[in-house]
Amino acid sequence: MQNNNQPIGIFDSGIGGLTVAKAISRLMPNENFIYFGDTAHLPYGEKSAEAIKHYSKKITSFLLSHNCKMVVIACNTASSAGYKALLPMFTDKQLLVNVIDPIANYVAQKYASGKIGIVATKRTISTQAYSKRIKQASKQLQTAEMATPLLAPMIEEGFYNNKISQTIINSYLEKKVLANVDALVLGCTHYPLIQQEIENYYAKTSKKVEVIDGSLIVAQTIQKILKEKKLANKEGKANYKFYVSDYTPAFVKTAKMFFDKKVNLEYYPLWQ
Ligand code: DGL
Repeated sequence: MQNNNQPIGIFDSGIGGLTVAKAISRLMPNENFIYFGDTAHLPYGEKSAEAIKHYSKKITSFLLSHNCKMVVIACNTASSAGYKALLPMFTDKQLLVNVIDPIANYVAQKYASGKIGIVATKRTISTQAYSKRIKQASKQLQTAEMATPLLAPMIEEGFYNNKISQTIINSYLEKKVLANVDALVLGCTHYPLIQQEIENYYAKTSKKVEVIDGSLIVAQTIQKILKEKKLANKEGKANYKFYVSDYTPAFVKTAKMFFDKKVNLEYYPLWQ
């Protein structure tokens, strides 16, 4: 039997998914969560779909065995390559949340027609998960996907809001495939940190382009599901646990950057 004060399980290939955890903590300040960052295997964006499925299953088992009432795949790469493989682990499929469906639904509701650009890791783009789900939700929409593999390592190294990052971002956004988009989906959990720079690029063009950070949209979807299932926690101070499968001081520094607060990372030997 599930109850309201059980934690939400959240996982990512590493630290980037903390942007989703941050949105959850702001929108639902009473919800407890357990975060698992698979830092031993990052970046998932460069891994095979098979490897990502294997990692995702083991992490999901870990979160369920820690009594989580819901599991959030706070990683676009794992959502695109691993979501279907995880579904059989849930009796109630709605208690497994990926980060792609909520964004696809948002886009389909907001845009009757037009061209939606998506930037993400190589693996996410190779699955075409965004295009498939956006087109499922609305046949009128055109999509244009582009892999931007330099962006996640660039952000992790602290290169954002500076001249170098703006130059790299501009040279990606200038590519022909993204010409004339009406909106651009930030299809990687790292990218909210460079949202402003992406908006700066579009502010200089003649077209108005919405830059979509999915973290709040995903948090709103989670809130709605928990409310419908009568599983929302409305009382008490939230308790957070942050586990990583490999621990280095660099991860502690990056975690603070993504969560906006100091994070107490704990090593958990999941792969031993
Ligand atoms: N967090 C991953 C995502 O959202 C990107 C980082 C990685 O490649 O592991 O796609």
